[in-house]
Amino acid sequence: MRIPTLFIAALAALSVIFPAGTAAANAPADPRPRQDANGNPLRYAATGHVSNYDENKVGTYTLPDPLLFQDGRAVRDASDWTRRRAEIRALYESEIYGRVPATVPAVRFEVVATDPTALDGLATRQHLVGHFGPGPDGPKVNVVLYLPKPRATPAPLLVQLLFGPPPGLAPASPSPKEAKTTPPRTMPREHAPLADIVGRGYAYALLRYTEIEGDRAESHLTGVRRLALRPGQDKPAADEWGTIAAWSWGVSRITDYLLTNPALDTGRVAVIGHSRLGKTALWVGATDERFRVVFSSCSGEMGAALARRDYGESVDDMAANFPWQFAGNFQKYPGKWHTMPVDSHLLIALSAPRAVFVTGGTQDQWADPRGQFLALVAAGPVWKLLGRADLGAKEIPALDTPAINGDLGFLYHTGGHTILPADWQAFLDFTARAFNRTSATNP
Ligand code: GCU
Repeated sequence: MRIPTLFIAALAALSVIFPAGTAAANAPADPRPRQDANGNPLRYAATGHVSNYDENKVGTYTLPDPLLFQDGRAVRDASDWTRRRAEIRALYESEIYGRVPATVPAVRFEVVATDPTALDGLATRQHLVGHFGPGPDGPKVNVVLYLPKPRATPAPLLVQLLFGPPPGLAPASPSPKEAKTTPPRTMPREHAPLADIVGRGYAYALLRYTEIEGDRAESHLTGVRRLALRPGQDKPAADEWGTIAAWSWGVSRITDYLLTNPALDTGRVAVIGHSRLGKTALWVGATDERFRVVFSSCSGEMGAALARRDYGESVDDMAANFPWQFAGNFQKYPGKWHTMPVDSHLLIALSAPRAVFVTGGTQDQWADPRGQFLALVAAGPVWKLLGRADLGAKEIPALDTPAINGDLGFLYHTGGHTILPADWQAFLDFTARAFNRTSATNP
């Protein structure tokens, strides 16, 4: 009985990677439902796991204690936390997202266009191109930067990873392979209210994530990870970077360049990403302390949602359907979530005591909104240890009502897998308060 089950589960996994029309999709269809009665995705993992949406079946779990070292010693103060933080980061690097190898390519930037009259004269718009690697054939990332005018002091900077091209740039058609795994979204809804952002005096930089590294199984042969392969190496080692780490590394390199501009405030920088890019934003916050604020929208499994909580997408689904987004070592954990040395509250805690804002949607149970909220709660003791406030709430807040306390914020919106206008407003207000608590570093 086991073999047919595995076979059907493998077909279900393949149907995510190879949608209708491909050879794999011509295999007999899995007769089991792909959605439950409420429209939530149902996935049948090779481990036998089936997506759960019943709070009564979530099961019990014990989270790793953020304030205990791996060897069981207590984390008592901020200097202990620095060491515990390094321990957690190293675990995330070796087991989950992968470490960035020393062989990373150099990046060089050029400004290809400047428009001083953007947004009816409110902003200067620059189109920058970052070239990875020494040769002309390396990946190129287009960045659009809006700089508010006039400015008496350096402008805080928001950096957003997008699924589609930044505003004003023609969509590059994805390769046929990429089109299979990358949601076909140009997503105008990802774009924040530009005039609002600039009106608040913020600079805003936008980039398309797949220009750093593709989002598919063989992307290690095409993007920045290809340039980092050592002679004789045909793919990253088991503890080396998957694409989430590559995208976040790229964001850091772009930010290096952006912050050479004296018009930008190096002490007030935020990163924004939705869904897989919400996972990426959390990893940016974890690895790059220049980011004072992290906005992780609907990031779900292996983002803000607790992996040990069996609800919505699971480790088994992620490891089977998106293996390239992670280190090879992540494949140790399907069916053995409780053996992961980390969970998402620790990922969030890597940004402490900086500010983290997380959203979830009622129509996005796949991303486990409650599991995201519970992770923020479970990360709270780290903020407290560092003399800051935790989220305060212990119960998931009322719908459409931001729960914000100090440096932590959560918003459960009525709606789906997206950033809604109200999310943007709550995030921008949250960010304004976080930036006000930070004194400018280059006034
Ligand atoms: C899939 C995947 C999620 C991911 C999402 C997205 O649904 O299962 O983990 O967050 O794609 O990036 O939109």
